[in-house]
Amino acid sequence: MLKISNVFKTFNIGTINEKRALNDINLTLNDGDFVTVIGGNGAGKSTLQNVISGTITPDYGKVEINGIDITKFPEYKRAEFIGRVFQDPMLGTASDMWIEENLALAYKRGENRSPFKWMINNENVNLFKNSLAKLGLGLEDRMKSKVKLLSGGQRQAITLLMATIRKPDLLMLDEHTAALDPKTANLVLTLTNEIIEQNNLTTLMITHNMKDALSYGNRLIMMDQGKIIYDVSGEDKKKLTVEDLLKKFNQTKDAPSDAMILG
Ligand SMILES: Nc1ncnc2c1ncn2[C@@H]1O[C@H](COP(=O)(O)OP(=O)(O)OP(=O)(O)O)[C@@H](O)[C@H]1O
Ligand SMILES: [Mg+2]
Repeated sequence: MLKISNVFKTFNIGTINEKRALNDINLTLNDGDFVTVIGGNGAGKSTLQNVISGTITPDYGKVEINGIDITKFPEYKRAEFIGRVFQDPMLGTASDMWIEENLALAYKRGENRSPFKWMINNENVNLFKNSLAKLGLGLEDRMKSKVKLLSGGQRQAITLLMATIRKPDLLMLDEHTAALDPKTANLVLTLTNEIIEQNNLTTLMITHNMKDALSYGNRLIMMDQGKIIYDVSGEDKKKLTVEDLLKKFNQTKDAPSDAMILG
């Protein structure tokens, strides 16, 4: 469903700060693939997601979703079929709006021709309430609370819901639990996994936690210096241990192994 072919990206070309962030990336995801992405700082993980979402244009190469070449699509056009969650809990939600309004915004994404786009009917309210109840955080009783009153973990849970309330063709998570305390991070990850499994979402999840990279998903890729240097799935992934990953990681050029969390 996602096909990336020969993608290159170099920042600050011709300057002293020139940096090749993506160096001939080729990656094909199948429908329902849940891929964990690991690699040292600066390996190119976020840049890869930025190229897919359209925040960054590649210098060369092609990005296709469901057979459609989206390499030149603007970001807002891709937002209709891509859901994203970032590390910072403050980023994904509008703090001065209610939980309900945030969800409505996400739900109405792509329907912006209608003059009634902000109207929330009872059916919508019920859908939001049910989705919130599934999180198990009691947020279904706080639909008219401003999001700024919520904790980081609650906000990330809402962001996750916003990214998936209209089933996206592709879900991209960029260290989305890294800013949370370990207990909350675990809770949000468990919720993430449930949402992905229930909706059979094709997912790219960047993490620095090797244990999480091994526990979740059916496929794992490791990046180093703008290249995918390891791609393992199915039974082979299940057999992998943190030690195996660490060994592989220590052979890379990018970062010292303390960039990785053993979990
Ligand atoms: N907008 C930009 N302008 C200039 N350089 C950039 C830009 N975005 C990324 N880079 C550089 O490209 C390289 C890859 O960065 P990227 O953010 O993709 O790494 P990453 O694998 O996500 O690392 P981290 O684990 O630290 O988040 C880095 O050297 C980074 O400094
Ligand atoms: Mg990054």
